[in-house]
Amino acid sequence: MSKKITIAIDGFSSTGKSTIAKLLAKKYNYIYVDTGAMYRAVTLFSKQNNFVGKNFLNKDELISKLQLVRLSFQFNQKLGFAEMYLNGNNVEKEIRTLEVSQLVSKVAAISEVRKKLVAEQQQMGKEGGIVMDGRDIGTVVFPDADLKLFMTASADKRATRRYKELIDRGDKVNFDEILFNVQERDRIDSTREDSPLIKAKDAIEFDNSDMGIKEQFDRICSLVDSKLED
Ligand code: DC
Repeated sequence: MSKKITIAIDGFSSTGKSTIAKLLAKKYNYIYVDTGAMYRAVTLFSKQNNFVGKNFLNKDELISKLQLVRLSFQFNQKLGFAEMYLNGNNVEKEIRTLEVSQLVSKVAAISEVRKKLVAEQQQMGKEGGIVMDGRDIGTVVFPDADLKLFMTASADKRATRRYKELIDRGDKVNFDEILFNVQERDRIDSTREDSPLIKAKDAIEFDNSDMGIKEQFDRICSLVDSKLED
């Protein structure tokens, strides 16, 4: 199997995009890029430098310091996926906190931030053989992707999954706060001016509110296999 395709996975937060993307990358021996982690890492940088907080956003300062943000992914053999590094430090745990989730949509709406990250994402995918997940992969980053998927699920189901993830890793969180964050991010991500979250015309939609991972994965693998046979 020598053909290497580009797979774009977009959709709302906590729809299991990264779970599917990691499984696909493993099965087909492709690179997996979690673009949400990149927006989260820029948000962490902004928070550490006081460019963003609950009630403020110093957009101009953030933009003027963007060139100091160096992002990289390093594969962790033990975990089986690549972890996010910000200026040489592993930030995988810090970028997944509720606090970062509450600030990230504000930072992701800044065009200069998007321009920088989209250019890096396009560079990572230029050889194909990639699974990338995010909000604008099939619409902006790789509008010519071979396969585009769009994942949805009810806000309640998504908040329940996210709540469980955070509780399992020991964070003290409240379900209503998570549900509000999921809904609020959907709203901001879908209504922002630059690259809003929308389903690409040629994307295949999966509502996984009541679909298990195995069923979804099997269906998606058939789609990938048919693209590889084209
Ligand atoms: O996938 P995630 O929930 O970790 O993404 C975090 C935030 O980053 C999300 O609320 C919107 C933003 N994002 C984006 O604007 N574009 C992407 N390609 C990926 C994420």
